[in-house]
Amino acid sequence: MGKIAVVGIGPGNSDMMTLQAKKVLEDSDIIVGYKAYTELVRDEYAHKEFYENGMRGEVERCQKCVELARDGKNVALICSGDAGVYGMASLVMELAEKENFTDIEVVPGVTAALSGAACLGAPLSHDFCIISLSDLLTPWEVIEKRLNSAAEGDFCIAIYNPSSHKRVDHLKKACEILMRKLPGDTACGYVRNIGRAACTQKVCTLSELVEEQVDMFTTVFVGNSKTKILDGKLVTPRGYNI
Ligand SMILES: C[S@@+](CC[C@H](N)C(=O)[O-])C[C@H]1O[C@@H](n2cnc3c(N)ncnc32)[C@H](O)[C@@H]1O
Repeated sequence: MGKIAVVGIGPGNSDMMTLQAKKVLEDSDIIVGYKAYTELVRDEYAHKEFYENGMRGEVERCQKCVELARDGKNVALICSGDAGVYGMASLVMELAEKENFTDIEVVPGVTAALSGAACLGAPLSHDFCIISLSDLLTPWEVIEKRLNSAAEGDFCIAIYNPSSHKRVDHLKKACEILMRKLPGDTACGYVRNIGRAACTQKVCTLSELVEEQVDMFTTVFVGNSKTKILDGKLVTPRGYNI
């Protein structure tokens, strides 16, 4: 019997992958993943066997991992960022439990909230939350409730899945919800393609963010009431008296 490692590969650049993740990929017999992610590691692990499939193929991908491990392979199921943050770790564990397969290890990776925050400065230096705007698996009412609660609690917010081909106006809707409670001059920003060749970023206010067009390769940041823009960077003070 083989085993499954669910591996977060970080935002995309090999330098941002942990040494543990690299070792697990090197020790695996087969690397499994969504094809946009297998492309990111294919050159470095060209000597490995790969199994990849497309978007919406998550259940089939995880089932394949259990099947391969049962056949004796050491499987590395890769996810971008961290595998436990909107990744495959929970799904593969749920599926494996149904089949009494227990040999699963989760290997952490640098999630987009953290790698994106580092690009912009220090926006998450105080209490923060991550909210995904994807309503594929979560009803929009729940997302709206969480946005409201985050604004009410004065959390810094990292927003994942701000847009997609079918949901181009989700960030605008989210900003409008946040602006019921937060002032328009709240410091915000976003980073596209973190850790990849075409990385771009912008710092702006919430009332500017509402008009911005971003895509699904972007992570958005909304500061708390103390977050400021210092020399073009987003900074959320921890509260030191200086
Ligand atoms: C399904 S979630 C996966 C998150 C991933 N497991 C992580 O921990 O970063 C996909 C969303 O993560 C964010 N994301 C992931 N990788 C990114 C990157 N390299 N640059 C910018 N945003 C990224 C985007 O908001 C994207 O829509």
